[in-house]
Amino acid sequence: MKIIITKDYETMSDEAFRVMADVVKQNPAAVLGLATGTTPLGLYARMAKDHRENGTSYRNVHTVNLDEYAGLGAESDQSYVWFMRENLFRHLDLPLGNTNLPNGKAEDLLAECARYNALLSEMQQDIQLLGIGSNGHIAFNEPGTPFGAETHVVELAESTIRDNARLFAREEDVPRRALSMGLKNIMHAKKILILANGANKAKAVCGLVKGPVTEQLPASVLQLHPDCVLICDEAAASLL
Ligand code: PGA
Repeated sequence: MKIIITKDYETMSDEAFRVMADVVKQNPAAVLGLATGTTPLGLYARMAKDHRENGTSYRNVHTVNLDEYAGLGAESDQSYVWFMRENLFRHLDLPLGNTNLPNGKAEDLLAECARYNALLSEMQQDIQLLGIGSNGHIAFNEPGTPFGAETHVVELAESTIRDNARLFAREEDVPRRALSMGLKNIMHAKKILILANGANKAKAVCGLVKGPVTEQLPASVLQLHPDCVLICDEAAASLL
């Protein structure tokens, strides 16, 4: 694993942009695996600025996102599809038809997982962007998720519901279930870029880098990926 430690969130986002921009430059028809959460916002702002100022085109790019809350769709500003349109897609020349997320509104969630798995098997991510949860989850793969899992329906961990409650009016409003890529889908990416900032991520980052490879800390599986880059700020790196 390649590790880059930066001074703060802004410099972490600068470094992340460099990695992402390089992938798009090498292949203007790249498949980008994207993530939601507060961590990638600085990176997305830089991609938008670069498109605006330098004309970098995403016309031929395709995207696949990690996850979506069950029951939420584009009309809800808590959904991940809304988040992606608001924070990234509408700022680029990326056709919405080229963007993919699991459909949280699907009537049959298991059939939706199967559809998403089939899509992912046809579209290998040139890069997969990840954040990390304070409990070491990646996407909604909570501790105990088998490394062999593909896209599946998840019952969210209490710690994840608490972490995400800040984005909802009330903790009771956080959906209890989600659709998530599995660790196998994530590991299938050609390159992984995982970002972490803040002291509340330090323990998870330590487990990701130095801990045993264990399903109790899902991110630790990334130690087995041949091309994984971790970019984190000093606070998140404080236990390394
Ligand atoms: P965050 O979430 O970027 O909002 O910290 C990361 C995650 O839980 O995967």
